[in-house]
Amino acid sequence: MFQKDFVWGVASSAYQIEGTDSQDGRGKNIWDTFAEQGRIYENQNADIACDHIHKYKEDFALMRLLGVKAYRFSVSWARIMPEGTGRVNEKAIALYRDMILEMKKNGIEPYVTMYHWEFPQALQDKGGWLNEEVIEWFGEYARVVAENFSDIAKYFITLNEPQCFVGLGHLSGVHAPGLKLEPKDVFQISHNALRAHGLAVKKLREFAKQPIKVGYAPTCGVAYPYTDSPEDIEAARSIYFGFDQPISNWTWNVAWFSDPVFLGEYPKEALEKYKEYLPEITKEDMELIHQPLDFMGQNIYNGYYIRAGKDGKPEYVDRGPGFPKTSTNWPVTPECLYWGVKFIYERYHMPIYITENGMACHDQISADGRVHDSNRIDFLDKYLSCIQKAVDEGVDVQGYFLWTFLDNFEWDKGYSERFGLVYVDYNTQKRIVKDSAYWYQKVMETNGMNLSVNQPKQEILRMEPVFKQMIWGGNKLGTQWGYEIPGDNTGECWAVSAHPNGDCKIAEGSFAGKTLSQLWKEQPELFGNVDSDRFPLLIKIIDAKDDLSIQVHPDDTYAATNENGSLGKTECWYILDASEGATLVIGHNAKDKAELDGMIREGRWQEFIREVPVKVGDFIQIDPGTVHAIKGGIQILETQQNSDITYRVYDYDRLTDGKPRELHVEKSLDVITVPAKSVAESIVAVDASKENVFNELISCDYYRVWKLDVTNKMQFMQEYPFLIMSVLSGDGLMNGQYIKKGDHFILPSGYGMVDVQGKLEVIASTIA
Ligand code: BGC
Repeated sequence: MFQKDFVWGVASSAYQIEGTDSQDGRGKNIWDTFAEQGRIYENQNADIACDHIHKYKEDFALMRLLGVKAYRFSVSWARIMPEGTGRVNEKAIALYRDMILEMKKNGIEPYVTMYHWEFPQALQDKGGWLNEEVIEWFGEYARVVAENFSDIAKYFITLNEPQCFVGLGHLSGVHAPGLKLEPKDVFQISHNALRAHGLAVKKLREFAKQPIKVGYAPTCGVAYPYTDSPEDIEAARSIYFGFDQPISNWTWNVAWFSDPVFLGEYPKEALEKYKEYLPEITKEDMELIHQPLDFMGQNIYNGYYIRAGKDGKPEYVDRGPGFPKTSTNWPVTPECLYWGVKFIYERYHMPIYITENGMACHDQISADGRVHDSNRIDFLDKYLSCIQKAVDEGVDVQGYFLWTFLDNFEWDKGYSERFGLVYVDYNTQKRIVKDSAYWYQKVMETNGMNLSVNQPKQEILRMEPVFKQMIWGGNKLGTQWGYEIPGDNTGECWAVSAHPNGDCKIAEGSFAGKTLSQLWKEQPELFGNVDSDRFPLLIKIIDAKDDLSIQVHPDDTYAATNENGSLGKTECWYILDASEGATLVIGHNAKDKAELDGMIREGRWQEFIREVPVKVGDFIQIDPGTVHAIKGGIQILETQQNSDITYRVYDYDRLTDGKPRELHVEKSLDVITVPAKSVAESIVAVDASKENVFNELISCDYYRVWKLDVTNKMQFMQEYPFLIMSVLSGDGLMNGQYIKKGDHFILPSGYGMVDVQGKLEVIASTIA
């Protein structure tokens, strides 16, 4: 669970939303130049962007209405100091003060980022980040920020994503100022940026008008383990904090940009690997960089799998075809948030804020005038669940700022990518709150309780049946049902079972590979938290090629004392297949105990056995104490208590491997009910003929069983603690999934509305 005062917020940056105004007095920055040079997608620019400088009142009102309580935004250096140093633009100060006050009026706590990439052009002309004077320039700017805003704002962040502005700006040249410098210069820039950060922290604190909290917001893709094995975890950790990138891409790492800030030293691996490119690094530099901070921000969007290779070395693992991606083609990797914060917390021991996370979607306005961005909801739901998991394990994550509030200017990609919770029509500047914003409103309101991890699972639990070979078994479970059977004498398909003699595995989804008994113990909420030490039912298909032995089952009391705490066995059969004139043994002909004893001990089977004619669709309840036997040529679907206790009364004198199977005469005599139910009462009279409804077959102390005949469409609410379904024939669609003859699955507790289409016969069951 998220702590009570967890900070739920949204994030943005100045240049991406503000826009400009001929009267605003701002100075030019490197992104203005970059846009003038035509280096943005479709020649776009941020002259208007979201026109936030004119519309911030409405924007903060929207935040208030959506319940946003914290807002990470940035102020623009060149707007505040048009030449980068010296003169302060009072209009900018007034603007940002009014924005902050307006936020507060709307109940929103400001988190001010000083630098989100829009470097003043005047200072770029003097060498930009490569000029060591930048440290002083940035320090001066920090003083101005502290002097003007720290009376009304408490939280400050120095740099946003140095990895990006250093690397994309100066190494690959994809971002402004669009340079492709030599590695040596880029290392100099990174060292300057880190020292500038250090001086800014000092200046912010020195000139602050109240005690403030200062942090830093680096980024980097997360290396996360392919499996949970200690080897894979170690491999991922070593890559996450290592320097595996080629020199052309070296800025993509965590440790170079965070170790000096939080640990006071550059990582040794990097000092060694990059020694030919490094500037002089002094003790004073390191002291300056290593300023005490109040929190660590981290922007996390995605990650990549790492595992320990055969030689023990870390190895990158392909995601495989069809891996989900955002519209920017970034992979959807929720686990990166779990592992990212976990690894970072282990290494730096700082309170963490996720200062950015979110996704771009192909959002558009639908016919109803709204923006239905279900992909984003799904993405955030999964990512936030991973933070919750880390928090539950003790990682100190204090807040989350969703990137971003408004669709905005996505740097070199212009307006082609929409990352917002609020849709912006750039022609009219109209805002439309997307579905995801309403969803996030609920997240903030419930402190994350509406996340799907905190809700009952709405996943269909498909079973992998377990097969049993029997002397009387045949091959129809293979030929008619399409199962992969172990051999020709396969008699039983344990379709839904948590019994130790045949525990089904979950076939797919988030519980794939777990056994049903494990799931019953570990996720009792899936089964409505039913109070029982084991999954209570067992569903089987029985295919009898030959006759089964004549047998009887004990009840709970007898089984508990005589069979090691086992359950007794009440069961019922739905006849799936039976030839003309087929019979079953149900009950017996002894009138009293003495006669029963005589018939069994003396082997008077002709007199003892009572056969009852049956046909497809008949339904038979076998109470404990009922003598019974399935005869060759019959197939049944059986719903029974979760028990494997059978007492064999008579086995037609058959031999297995030259020996007769064991009989249980004494126990049988203990439990057989005398006299038996009449023939007429042995078959339950059911009318299962109504289409597209639940036709009840039986409701007893242990289970309820229904037959469903879907002929076209059927809808129902799954309101039972759980509902087991076995498809007997046909095929169809159920809530988006293809289901067909031979499928067995459980609809868990709270599953909700079920929509079935197609032509199928189903047996459904649950506990009483
Ligand atoms: C940046 C944002 C950007 C977002 C999405 C982050 O790297 O800080 O400015 O819009 O990613 O690309």
